[in-house]
Amino acid sequence: MHILIPADDIQRRVREMAAEIERDHPDGVHMIAVLKGAFVFLSDLARAMPGRCSLDFMAVSSYGTSTRSSGQVQLLKDLDSGLEGRDVVIVEDIVDTGLTLAYMQQILRARSPRHLRTACLLSKPSRRQVDVAVDYTGFEIEDQFVVGYGLDYAEQYRNLPHIAVLD
Ligand code: IMP
Repeated sequence: MHILIPADDIQRRVREMAAEIERDHPDGVHMIAVLKGAFVFLSDLARAMPGRCSLDFMAVSSYGTSTRSSGQVQLLKDLDSGLEGRDVVIVEDIVDTGLTLAYMQQILRARSPRHLRTACLLSKPSRRQVDVAVDYTGFEIEDQFVVGYGLDYAEQYRNLPHIAVLD
């Protein structure tokens, strides 16, 4: 395993993203994290935003223990509250094929938020299978499987403070 993005670089970029999201949501924001991978990103992002901010969680599954997307998305846990008229930001760990995010955006848009935007820490543009809009991107990376900062391989490595590549 080798480090791709050191912890300090992540922290600096997350603070920049928090400032951008705050600037775009002066009336406050409702942030929805996609479990489990986005829990670390959401935690740092939310703590870097001193303004009005509420949180909710969804869980979806698209991978099992494989490192390649099955292309099938399953909703494992739904939100606790409705989204009608609210300013919502989806908080995702990584966009790979885009299938998971496209599914999330489709079901959340149907709940009539005032705005629906998306923040992703990582993006692998070369892997995209569907065109999805991402409003805030932390880092673009090559087509390689990464772990750490919430991201796992078979439920391991989520606790690493940096992003690493499995060799
Ligand atoms: P997509 O549907 O192919 O865009 O995949 C999105 C989901 O796959 C993410 O939310 C992650 O949970 C997982 N994923 C994609 N690439 C990686 C990776 O490099 N490491 C760990 N998980 C990944």
